[in-house]
Amino acid sequence: MDEKVVESEGRNWYKRMSFYQIWIRSFADGNGDGIGDLYGVYDKLEYIKSLGVDGIWFSPIYPSPNADFGYDISDYKDIHPDYGDLDQFKKVLTKAHEMGLKVIMDLVVNHTSDEHPWFIESRKGKDNPYSDYYIWRDKPNNWDSLFEGKAWEYVPERGQYYLHIFAKKQPDLNMDNPKVREEVKSIMRFWLDMGVDGFREDVINFISKEEGLPDGLAFLPAAKGMSHYKDGPHIHEYLAEFRKVCEEYDCFQLGEGPMTTVKSAMKYLTGPTKSLDMMFSFDHMMADCLYTEYVHRPFSLVKLKKAFSKWQYALAGRGWNALYLENHDHPRIISRYGSEFFWRESGTMLAACYIFQRGTPFVYQGQEIGMTNIRLMSIDQYVDVSSITNYNTYHLKEDPERRLHRIHLSSRDSARTPMQWDGSENAGFSKVKPWFYVNPNYKKINVAKEEENRDSILWFYRKCLALRKSSETLIYGDYTEYFPKDKNIYMYERSLGKESYLIICSFSRLPVRAHKPEKFRGRKGELVLCNYRDGAGIAKSERALEQVEYKLAELEHRKGLLRPFETRVYRYAF
Ligand code: NOJ
Repeated sequence: MDEKVVESEGRNWYKRMSFYQIWIRSFADGNGDGIGDLYGVYDKLEYIKSLGVDGIWFSPIYPSPNADFGYDISDYKDIHPDYGDLDQFKKVLTKAHEMGLKVIMDLVVNHTSDEHPWFIESRKGKDNPYSDYYIWRDKPNNWDSLFEGKAWEYVPERGQYYLHIFAKKQPDLNMDNPKVREEVKSIMRFWLDMGVDGFREDVINFISKEEGLPDGLAFLPAAKGMSHYKDGPHIHEYLAEFRKVCEEYDCFQLGEGPMTTVKSAMKYLTGPTKSLDMMFSFDHMMADCLYTEYVHRPFSLVKLKKAFSKWQYALAGRGWNALYLENHDHPRIISRYGSEFFWRESGTMLAACYIFQRGTPFVYQGQEIGMTNIRLMSIDQYVDVSSITNYNTYHLKEDPERRLHRIHLSSRDSARTPMQWDGSENAGFSKVKPWFYVNPNYKKINVAKEEENRDSILWFYRKCLALRKSSETLIYGDYTEYFPKDKNIYMYERSLGKESYLIICSFSRLPVRAHKPEKFRGRKGELVLCNYRDGAGIAKSERALEQVEYKLAELEHRKGLLRPFETRVYRYAF
């Protein structure tokens, strides 16, 4: 074992850790052009470290025409000039490592940009070295693209159609071509040799397509064909090849698994086909929608709990979960599963509801200060390709206002507004007009304000992450859920040996009673975390109406009820 491996507790170092995700374009503008960049990241590393996380995941920072904001890559071995250059990246990497932060990169190899030199060559004809780098057919099948209409686009130059599961500008690579897999390994080595610590692998369960590309059934809206490319026939062989590269380094692999089920995830995470250390699953992101946030339904706590517990129990003692509530693909969680009215309470409760589960927590930029959805006035102001398609494709019989409301609820752009650093112009994100709209609530919701108040969402995230890290029970302990059918309260236990933590989360806007599970009755636990200041009681609020609500809630609390969105974490010794 080399020194680096020993230092980092073998290959399991990721289990103790928590990560911060950076979507760079909106994180911090360091060179004053209105676009977030690596200079900004460099300056904010102390802030990131102060959260108590142990690593950073960078969403793509490579050259890209930005048809899908970085997920359409035109050069895998460079940095987008908007964000800096390789030297600046190395500076960030070195400083991050000196501060004890790991750095993982996004590996997007299901597709490239149509402006990648491989595709530019491939589209020219059937007999150049890149002809078979992509998936070409004389006739399209019936597959849908997940982002833009049908999954095939005609190229007159070559006289054929190419496959794009995502946007038209994201042609799918032909992973059956060994040369393409060699390219992937070479990309991995390029970054690993530079010192990065691992990869988040984009839609990795889609990279192997079924031979003959048969027509698909429409089992989901806009997903005709998915059963022929999700968990495709050679996926585990291909991932085994990539795993080998990682094994040469002390590398960590996290796969994104859209629509993955526990059963299929097991093959990636355990046993002889293990090729990933953990996977981002999606079940828990569908407690208020069906498959895509655009198909909205009322939030159901029971659905959320079912999804959480399904993954927790299935992976117990066998695999490891990647825990998240937000990333660049989903609207803000307070606006979805919490309440903008009970903003601080729900923002803090949501932190406790997932960080103490068994797995590695990920926090997305802005989540830790309770950023919320943006509501733009017109569809023309939105820039995300999938939001624009959704608006123009579905629910066309509804009036435009109603459709715009759906975009307010569902758009990925809500997660991509500039980070709100302070109450100054442009939210302190940039000295000039930012590339995208700043959420108008930035004077109320920003890092500087959150720093000042020890009861803030930001400080609560810090407390949660620190508590998790301080306890073997919270890292490795067993997970048990109580009262799964309760419509207001999520309650779970983490236990190891003689120690237990009981995490109680109210998702209710009204006071509700929480019963103690049998095991804990008659025992006194130590209250180690709570999002209401007990004794002092009422969280400070700016609005008179809220004050009344809080006061009522406080009275109810004295009767033994949980206050709106209250969370309590107790420690018990048995
Ligand atoms: C998943 C990424 O997270 C998302 O942002 C992207 O649009 C698709 N994969 C396609 O790369």
